[in-house]
Amino acid sequence: MTVKIGLLGLGTVGTGVYRLITSRGGHIKESTGFYPEIKGILIKNLNKPRKVNVQGLLTQNAEEILKDKEIKIVIEAIGGVHPAYEYVKEALSEGKHVITANKELIAKHGEDLNEIAEKNGVFLKCEASVGGAIPILHQIDRLKITDEIDFVGGIINGTTNYILTQMSTKGKSYEEALIEAQELGYAELNPDYDVKGFDSLYKLIILMRKVFNVNVPVNSITRSGIDGITKEDINYIAKWGYKIKLLAWGKKVKDNIFAGVEPVVVEESNILSKVSDVNNAIILKGDSFGEYVFVGRGAGELPTGDAVVADLLDVLLNYNIKGNNVAKFLPVSEGSFTDTFY
Ligand code: NDP
Ligand code: HSE
Repeated sequence: MTVKIGLLGLGTVGTGVYRLITSRGGHIKESTGFYPEIKGILIKNLNKPRKVNVQGLLTQNAEEILKDKEIKIVIEAIGGVHPAYEYVKEALSEGKHVITANKELIAKHGEDLNEIAEKNGVFLKCEASVGGAIPILHQIDRLKITDEIDFVGGIINGTTNYILTQMSTKGKSYEEALIEAQELGYAELNPDYDVKGFDSLYKLIILMRKVFNVNVPVNSITRSGIDGITKEDINYIAKWGYKIKLLAWGKKVKDNIFAGVEPVVVEESNILSKVSDVNNAIILKGDSFGEYVFVGRGAGELPTGDAVVADLLDVLLNYNIKGNNVAKFLPVSEGSFTDTFY
């Protein structure tokens, strides 16, 4: 059975999602019973060259996607609050499942959008909004069942980690490294969101909502970024065996939550010092599992596309329409461990 999907945005994330859905459609059908087909793609500029062949799919009219009864799932990869908020709200109200990579939208409006989703019996999913490819929200859902988690934090912005790494290991200037991060598709449309710590702040709010079941207002968390950090600062502290990392963290102590986003001087021997370039590292502490550190690509076309598709798989595996929605267990071929690895 085919499931029709509407894609909002065909930039870095939208392109990654498009590539994965079109190249892995057969595998997705194998494991979910549904073949995903992208029926329409919303963009702003029809004349922009595209990296993928999307002939006949592009539109500048959101209603063509949002009002299309055949489209059951909408993937939002536009960014920003407006018009993303209005589009997501409309899609949910039309009974469509929504998957978004938009951390600002979810940090600021996640609660009311979740209510609309619940009222309409559809999913609102946002794995790609935090930690790029790291399946952190899925993991927290799982760990919360058996643990009281009292700490979440780490490096949750790829652009700033890329800039700091390039400045410290390649001697690049802040400006050069930022331009590279933009060219690689890591930075937000307005890179101030990355370098001034807003992006980390939004992600932290989403993480804390999941981990502590609290909705922390955006303005209540202390935030500073890396925009004032110079190559000289980095070289100076390197002499003493330290690195600078932009960290975001939330800690629960009894009924209080402490949280912040700030550049922190970290010892070179610390695991966070070894997390370089676009990679993110998210630490969780819980009373049963102890401590986890999840490391992976924090931004970019395919890593983020992969996180969006993880949500798509969830939606399809739980898809409440007639048809085969049961994942198949494929037979395992005869063979041994050594056949496979040597
Ligand atoms: P881009 O700027 O690369 O792409 C945005 C896309 O949305 C473009 O295709 C653009 O159209 C379209 N668009 C923007 N505004 C409108 C509008 N008003 N109407 C219709 N189409 C519009 O952004 P990214 O792909 O980098 O990011 C998208 C979202 O994903 C953001 O929320 C971001 O924070 C999040 N994200 C990004 C990651 C990354 O690595 N870049 C990783 C994880 C999350 P056009 O192409 O015509 O300009
Ligand atoms: N601009 C973001 C970052 C994209 O650099 O981490 C991934 O959320």
